[in-house]
Amino acid sequence: MNFNLSEEHLAVKEAARDFAQNELLPGIVERDNEARFPAEQVKKMGELGFLGMMVSPDYGGGGMDTVSYVLAMEEISKIDASASVIMSVNNSLVCYGLEAFGTEEQKQTYLTRLATGETLGAFCLSEPEAGSDATSQATTAEDKGDYYLVNGTKNWITNGNSSGICLVIAQTDREKKHRGINCLIVEKGTPGFVVGKKEDKMGIRASDTHSLLFTDVKIPKENRIGEDGFGFKFAMSTLNGGRIGIAAQALGIAAGAYELALKYSQERKSFGKQIFEHQAIQFKLAEMATKIEAARLLVYKAARLKDEHKDYIQAAAMAKLFASEIAMWATTEAVQIHGGYGYVKEFHVERLMRDAKITQIYEGTSEIQKLVIARELIR
Ligand code: CAA
Repeated sequence: MNFNLSEEHLAVKEAARDFAQNELLPGIVERDNEARFPAEQVKKMGELGFLGMMVSPDYGGGGMDTVSYVLAMEEISKIDASASVIMSVNNSLVCYGLEAFGTEEQKQTYLTRLATGETLGAFCLSEPEAGSDATSQATTAEDKGDYYLVNGTKNWITNGNSSGICLVIAQTDREKKHRGINCLIVEKGTPGFVVGKKEDKMGIRASDTHSLLFTDVKIPKENRIGEDGFGFKFAMSTLNGGRIGIAAQALGIAAGAYELALKYSQERKSFGKQIFEHQAIQFKLAEMATKIEAARLLVYKAARLKDEHKDYIQAAAMAKLFASEIAMWATTEAVQIHGGYGYVKEFHVERLMRDAKITQIYEGTSEIQKLVIARELIR
């Protein structure tokens, strides 16, 4: 497999790094403290093309490959994992799902607005009683002839308040189990659709995570994605790509913490020398650099497979499983290297450690990734 990056790839990486340093770093501690959505920064992400990176230019996107996307995700996540989850959900769950499976009319109406950042998208699968067990949908989309009547509650929805367009998964025919599930495009402002409670989270605090409530919401049939009953397959297929985005996010969080720890180790002195001179610290940094590089190769591999239209289900699950475990471990090590300073907010590593945890949970927990990998072993 070719892991060489092209000139274009390097330019995307640099642009994302500059954006993160110049636009996301200022005010990040305050946004985290106040759980304040980075509205201004997200607007700039749209202007710079970070919100529809892989979408065809025909629909207002950047027409880039998945490798470019993971490079940008890594750089942005090194600084601000709240901004990168907003970006990831919009790119790899909502835009990808609409472009791959939507009708031409759906793409013209919704995808162009999402790809340019005119509005954000949300992917609404999880429910109070359906997280890992995603086929157990309690939200219903009753078939009423020319429209669906949607009732139910979605939980932990990223971009829950800030999005204008939501992809809502709901059960139409319970007898058909997962083959009776549909995905509907639902716009904010549709009567009966209300944004519920905002979650007070451990990490990625500046991203807005809400429950969404649907009471007798009428959605026209033309807003269904794919054939009747395609909704669960749609969710699973979209999540395969989403997991590459979250793997890249986890990689970025780990690499960001490592870069801070490496720098600190050359500034801080103890026992008469830079702490980097202590073998205990060298060993930690060497191990971090090695495992982060291994995670990076898994992420690149999954992205390359997707770009080459090869099967990437297992590669995406492996990348997410490994990168998220490394993110949790490396950020904890980075806090340890910083000692007391690592435990306070202005040194950033404690935030990265809190942010890392969610990468082991959303878009399929580590346990679900192992299940996906194991199933592929005998497929
Ligand atoms: N890719 C494509 N299709 C898949 C698939 C995959 N990875 N996994 C399952 N499917 C298909 C199966 O082929 C099957 O289809 P057929 O019946 O037509 O053959 C169908 O889906 C049902 O699959 P299973 O019988 O395997 O269903 P299951 O209930 O045993 O297991 C699961 C499914 C893998 C556990 C699945 O429920 C799952 O992935 N759960 C995790 C859900 C998840 O990732 N949630 C994240 C929420 S979104 C989010 O976090 C976004 C955010 O805001 C950041």
